[in-house]
Amino acid sequence: MVLAVHGGAGGALRRENTNPELAKVVRKGLADALRAGQKVLEKGGTSVAATEAAVRSLEDNEMFNAGKGAVFNEDAGHELDASIMRGSDQAAGAVAGVRNVRNPISAARLVMEKTKHVMLAGEGADDFAARSGLPTVTQDYYWTEARWQELLAAKGHGPASAKKQLTQGTVGAVAVDHEHNVAAATSTGGLVNKMVGRVSDSSSIGAGTYAKNGTVAASATGHGETFIRGAATSTISNLIEFGGKDLASAAYDVLVKRLPKLGGDGGVIALNAQGVFDAPHSSAGLLNGYLTADGKIVTRIFYDETPPNQ
Ligand code: GLY
Repeated sequence: MVLAVHGGAGGALRRENTNPELAKVVRKGLADALRAGQKVLEKGGTSVAATEAAVRSLEDNEMFNAGKGAVFNEDAGHELDASIMRGSDQAAGAVAGVRNVRNPISAARLVMEKTKHVMLAGEGADDFAARSGLPTVTQDYYWTEARWQELLAAKGHGPASAKKQLTQGTVGAVAVDHEHNVAAATSTGGLVNKMVGRVSDSSSIGAGTYAKNGTVAASATGHGETFIRGAATSTISNLIEFGGKDLASAAYDVLVKRLPKLGGDGGVIALNAQGVFDAPHSSAGLLNGYLTADGKIVTRIFYDETPPNQ
């Protein structure tokens, strides 16, 4: 594999009760993101640029909980988090609680490449993104009817079915480029009805995002508080580097054995510089897809395509 994406670790999609139109839209969203990253890699672009392009595509797609289509916080507003990491030198950038950046992942990349810091939050992050020339939006840009119903349900006002949104999760990408450098990127609207000011694992390097050339590029999705407490993605890297584990068993160990004991579930996409890829999850489902070096795109959205790891 050279590139992989995820679109959240929500409930599992079952063929028997999933509208074929919906399945098509979700598969297309994942495939579009893979194609966006593929274009970059085919032109000799870096893994950082490829993961940014893939995540931007998912942020622009209202099916996913990042950028347009992000969930609402308790004040019916949107605060978005994102981070990116480069495996060659462990440079990293992140934004937390941004309210007006159209593509938070691009702001995170600019923090990494244009500042001496790793994370900017709130107004300062929004100002930095605007001053850097990134497109800005007003809060209504992120709005979707589905997310609004989800907020009402979370507050006890809407139909209970709205609680079971298809794509509760975060989005992310991992890639390896022609120079064998890996990168990881993650973006989210967070948890529906979250407290104002809550920061997720998706903007926390070592929790939602991690990349190191000798070990792994990993992007996580799931219950953010658990992924922060369990230092999810950096622990996968450490198990490979210091624990002698291979990529698949390190990722499985963290996602399936360790994090559920801390009380939260989710999934991860993990890729190394040799193209070894795995996507273990303790959640019922994990929407994900990957691109092979010879250009084949595979998307996995149904329960039988991604059964939970035991
Ligand atoms: N993993 C995304 C969140 O907890 O907001």
